[in-house]
Amino acid sequence: MMNNLSVDHLTGIKDLTAEDIELIFKTADSFKEVINRPIKKVPSLRDITIANLFFENSTRTKLSFELAEKRLSADIVNFSASGSSVKKGETLVDTVNNILSMKVDLVVMRHPNPGAATFLSKKIGAKVINAGDGTHEHPTQALLDSYSIREKFGSVKGKKVVIVGDILHSRVALSNIYCLQKQGAEVMVCGPLNLIPKNMKDLGVKVSNNLKEALEWCDVANMLRIQLERQDETFFPSLREYAMLFGLNKGILDSLSKKIVVMHPGPINRGVEITSDVADSDQSIILQQVENGVAIRMAVIYLLASQIER
Ligand code: CP
Repeated sequence: MMNNLSVDHLTGIKDLTAEDIELIFKTADSFKEVINRPIKKVPSLRDITIANLFFENSTRTKLSFELAEKRLSADIVNFSASGSSVKKGETLVDTVNNILSMKVDLVVMRHPNPGAATFLSKKIGAKVINAGDGTHEHPTQALLDSYSIREKFGSVKGKKVVIVGDILHSRVALSNIYCLQKQGAEVMVCGPLNLIPKNMKDLGVKVSNNLKEALEWCDVANMLRIQLERQDETFFPSLREYAMLFGLNKGILDSLSKKIVVMHPGPINRGVEITSDVADSDQSIILQQVENGVAIRMAVIYLLASQIER
């Protein structure tokens, strides 16, 4: 197996090869062992400084990256757009270049604009990891999702995964589609047809707007949050109606002919896309996804940092 990523930055899963994904998973396996030890740290990145730039809200991704960096012994600085000089009109490149002049080696960035991470990677000398760019990609989320499926089933190849909900506004959906297909999984999307982009069939993705049928087909259901903050028009009459047609509840789950695995990237709208008794059931791996996020982010940071001359 190769021991170098084929990319210089992680801006999207679209750019990764199947070998890159396997390398990230194998590296994450070692780090998962590390973070379950009494001393959860390795000294690997003692000479590396990382800036976490969050221009948009985050709980899991921000904390997960920060923990991953600390477990690797990197120095870190944190920036969030609220309370920063971005509010005074400073451009993204100026903001980042000012931070980089403090000798930063790697930037983790969440930004509301699709393509922001790719743009930044072409403008600065530091490594860039996309922590979610608008409705475009969320590569580390897709990696931790696939890693959790691999952990559950032994392999992602041949598994049938349905992604349910607001596909149109979801960076998690697009990154998951690329990631799952590169590993040989079959992918279906399910939701209101006006929340499913027209290019799904061109990507080789099955489309359904019948939740029960989609769940009968799959081994894994990844339930997405309704992205109300990204919807500038009304896509369905009410959240109650959405929950009735596309929400996963215990009644539907128990009526299926097999026991499927349930995932959710978080944050959950309990009672909308998933009920509490499903989210907290033994079929849900939601908290394992969060745990695996730290090992996956350690792996990505470690592999990119190993390309830095030092
Ligand atoms: N899954 C995810 O990206 O969650 P946050 O928005 O809390 O980071």
